[in-house]
Amino acid sequence: MKDSKYFNSNIRLRRLRKNAATRDLATETRLHTKNLVWPLFILEGENQRQEVKSMPGVEKLSLNLIIKEAKEAHELGIPGLALFPVIPDNKKDKKASESKNPNGLMQTAIKELKKEVPEIVLFTDVAMDPYSTDGQDGLVENGEILNDETLPILAEMALAQAKAGADFIAPSDMMDHRIGYIRQALDAQGFTNTGIMSYAAKYASAFYGPFRDALDSAPNGDKKTYQMNPANSKEALSEVSIDINEGADIVMVKPALAYLDIISLVKTNVNIPVAAYNVSGEYAMLKLLAKNNLANEKEIVLESLTAMKRAGADLIFTYFAKDVAEWLKS
Ligand code: PBG
Repeated sequence: MKDSKYFNSNIRLRRLRKNAATRDLATETRLHTKNLVWPLFILEGENQRQEVKSMPGVEKLSLNLIIKEAKEAHELGIPGLALFPVIPDNKKDKKASESKNPNGLMQTAIKELKKEVPEIVLFTDVAMDPYSTDGQDGLVENGEILNDETLPILAEMALAQAKAGADFIAPSDMMDHRIGYIRQALDAQGFTNTGIMSYAAKYASAFYGPFRDALDSAPNGDKKTYQMNPANSKEALSEVSIDINEGADIVMVKPALAYLDIISLVKTNVNIPVAAYNVSGEYAMLKLLAKNNLANEKEIVLESLTAMKRAGADLIFTYFAKDVAEWLKS
């Protein structure tokens, strides 16, 4: 073929796609098991197992079963776990009092996991919603989610988790200035080596539905006065820069799939690791496509997670972690 004024026939991008080995060599982004953090839902009791109906394949498990899963995850090479406790209604109140109980479910889980699988990195959720009768991440008074009054509650929760042995406190509540407040509280008690992973750019998203179902934590009303407006991207940079100034070690963008532009923007603007949360609704969406034979599960999951990494995510929180670790072995 000869050149026309419209193209240069020397250039043929298909040369780099001609077979699997060449495509491998020309691959820009490679998903790795070491990028993954696996979120787990913890139940009270022993040998308890409840499937999360809205998330096919995900189960809430009591601690003895969680430990078994954590050992398997570790053996598969998954470096981190994110812990979410399922708190029974009779332990919920307006002030999330149970969250600071040194022998509460979360704190017990942290201690046991650190004893049984010491190498695994524990990210522990800090927010009032699993413990709150209002299902909100902050303290509610006359329908308003109070900011500054919520901070001491979050700090006490964070301290209880740090004392139990958490590696990274992970505030997911989106109150203003909670990173600085928690950092100070941790340092004042000598927990200078406990990290903070901030859910810095967390959007008020409809993709959290199955998670709220799993924790039975659906809020009274919505979370739009603290979680971000999905229409905004510059604001994400304000959120992450404030959190970094206040001492965050890692910043997260959440959800992931519909927010790849935000992951990319944040990655090019910060010098610390960026995490992406492949949230419950994204998980359910892909599972349902696969279950209905509308997509190959392995292909659609690997494509989605690779896209998150390509966008700039260093850590990826995903309910698919164990499946991905198995797939990436072969
Ligand atoms: C709440 C919290 C949520 C998730 C993690 N922490 C839900 C919410 O903000 O209502 C969502 C995770 C998911 O959907 O997988 N603090």
